[in-house]
Amino acid sequence: MTAALELLGLRKSFGGLVVTDDVNLQLNAGARHALIGPNGAGKSTLVGLVCGAIRPDDGQVLLFGRDLTRVSIHARVKAGLVRSFQITSLFPRLTAFENVLLAVNEHEGVAGRLWQSVHDLRTNRDRCHQVLEELQISDQADVPVQDMSYGEQRLVEIALVLALKPRVLLLDEPAAGIPSTETGLLLNALRKLPAEMAILMIEHDMGMVREFCTDTTVLVSGRVLASGTTAEVMNSDAVRDVYLGRAGQARFTGTSPYV
Ligand SMILES: Nc1ncnc2c1ncn2[C@@H]1O[C@H](COP(=O)(O)OP(=O)(O)OP(=O)(O)O)[C@@H](O)[C@H]1O
Ligand SMILES: [Mg+2]
Repeated sequence: MTAALELLGLRKSFGGLVVTDDVNLQLNAGARHALIGPNGAGKSTLVGLVCGAIRPDDGQVLLFGRDLTRVSIHARVKAGLVRSFQITSLFPRLTAFENVLLAVNEHEGVAGRLWQSVHDLRTNRDRCHQVLEELQISDQADVPVQDMSYGEQRLVEIALVLALKPRVLLLDEPAAGIPSTETGLLLNALRKLPAEMAILMIEHDMGMVREFCTDTTVLVSGRVLASGTTAEVMNSDAVRDVYLGRAGQARFTGTSPYV
């Protein structure tokens, strides 16, 4: 089976600092894969390399066998490789529906076009309703984003991404900045995402990782320290030593609050 996403020997340095050090990673269709590691390990940089925001010094990014290493962010999105938007990219005064519609129109290339077929517009509106439904926020469709809770805003952000029909989705700390009381909401929504979509999730919240990700890769100083099933990785002594030493035991242990 061709991997949905394959990273081959990715390398990146900033000045003298090696931030991505020969990273190899493979996600199959349907993967729920966590990328964890201490602060500064190079997780966000890796996502930047994969989505095309940062150019690697060496190595390759393959999407279903197609080499996307040298193509633009936009071309990667078209091919189905999509990273989550930052929450700041939402227009606070527009409703959830309007925010998603803007993203869909942009993606379909109808934004700013004077002559749009009614059929195209209807299809796009249908797609918006569909993603809001998938994330169970249809009842909030007409609410301005600024009046929603942080957790709900995060769902709108994910709805934008879904509207782009990703085959591989990169999520950089989806639970960051939302109160723990709302993490369940996020988890529920993520669980409803299409099964065949491959998801790579950077996350510091180990409860979230345990609940959602079947596989985990640990990055330390830009290198892959361990990769395997989440249970294997979390129980490995090497991982616990390195990770716990820097990130604190409380975050790593304990039972999940999200069951
Ligand atoms: N554009 C840049 N120029 C110089 N150094 C950078 C740049 N981007 C990141 N770095 C450095 O690369 C290292 C890795 O940063 P990165 O943001 O990828 O880590 P991270 O694992 O995502 O950390 P966190 O868990 O805190 O989000 C850090 O030492 C950071 O200071
Ligand atoms: Mg980061």
